[in-house]
Amino acid sequence: MEAILLVGGKGSRLRPVTEFTPKPMVPTAGVPFLAHQLARARAAGVDHVVLATSYLAEVFEPYFGDGARLGLRITYVHETEPLGTGGAIRNAADALTCPPDAPVLVFNGDILTGLDIAALVDSHRAAGADVSLHLTRVEDPSAFGLVPTDDTGRVLAFTEKPERPEEIVTDQVNAGCYVFRRSVIDTIPAGRPVSVERETFPGLLASGAHLHGVVDRTYWMDLGRPAALIQASADLVRGLVPSPALPGRTGEFLVLDGARVDEGAKLSGGTVVGAGAEIAADAVVDGCVVLDGARIEAGAQLRASLVGAGARVGARTVLDGTVVGDGAQVGSDNELLAGARVWCNTALPDAAIRFSPNC
Ligand code: GTP
Repeated sequence: MEAILLVGGKGSRLRPVTEFTPKPMVPTAGVPFLAHQLARARAAGVDHVVLATSYLAEVFEPYFGDGARLGLRITYVHETEPLGTGGAIRNAADALTCPPDAPVLVFNGDILTGLDIAALVDSHRAAGADVSLHLTRVEDPSAFGLVPTDDTGRVLAFTEKPERPEEIVTDQVNAGCYVFRRSVIDTIPAGRPVSVERETFPGLLASGAHLHGVVDRTYWMDLGRPAALIQASADLVRGLVPSPALPGRTGEFLVLDGARVDEGAKLSGGTVVGAGAEIAADAVVDGCVVLDGARIEAGAQLRASLVGAGARVGARTVLDGTVVGDGAQVGSDNELLAGARVWCNTALPDAAIRFSPNC
């Protein structure tokens, strides 16, 4: 079975995490997020993956090579100009080898899910569909592409990010994993940007194609925003969603080889500490991602935050829901909360920012 993985997006909503690292390569529970997706695809019977790259394309191949280490064959297809999700699928399909009737899996490169991929393919075959989509149910559908279906699973409409309340006709949303009949991919226009969500799917529906939705309510997280990425990493470490690529045992924390954690530090909530990182005495790190070579100094308190590679968080500084970019220096006695983002390689002096009186 063959799969296309879309990994060429700019990941702007994650900045500065994606300043030097494309979103699918951001370490999540100790390995690039893509490693979890590739391992799950392999476990579902995929043997050839085409990676559709664009933004920071050069970093993928040195890490994954030909895929043999993962039991896969990986082909890299690079877009010099980003082609959007649909254009990328069309462009990557040139590297597929399967016949026109074969099912091809397509994954967004930023979705963590416990979806039974093989069951999605079985359902696609049983329905005789042109395209099948994994759908998930969410509490607030307003920020997603809505996909209402009839009681046989046939897709009735696509509403991208509804703007008016009356457009919210379902809580089923496009979960970013599809099965295409190969020949359907060949109908996407080549050589220009195309959005699969806004153009391809509505166009197929209008032309009478059979689009089939499969609602699956297992774990699902779109890693597009920092809070979701940090949560997904913690969930992987704690084993809430299983991944064959997790580089260690599941538990309350994961410390990679070469990291140094002082005996007096407290790690919890699925925190991961990257290679060569240091956590000093009395630091409390709960549900965080601490990347390679980062330093957390004595008495710092971190919750649900990401500290970039080589960054430093000074003594007694408090971070909650914060991103510190690669190489940034946050001085001692700061307090950064509620979505604060410190840009890569910047420096914040000691006691520069607080969200509460320092008493
Ligand atoms: P934002 O800039 O934060 O919206 O993130 P993004 O650029 O990743 O966009 P989005 O989350 O909508 O993308 C969904 C998936 O498609 C991600 O896995 C992206 O890597 C991928 N993707 C988006 N645009 C392109 C593109 O032009 N080319 C390729 N190859 N992949 C893309």
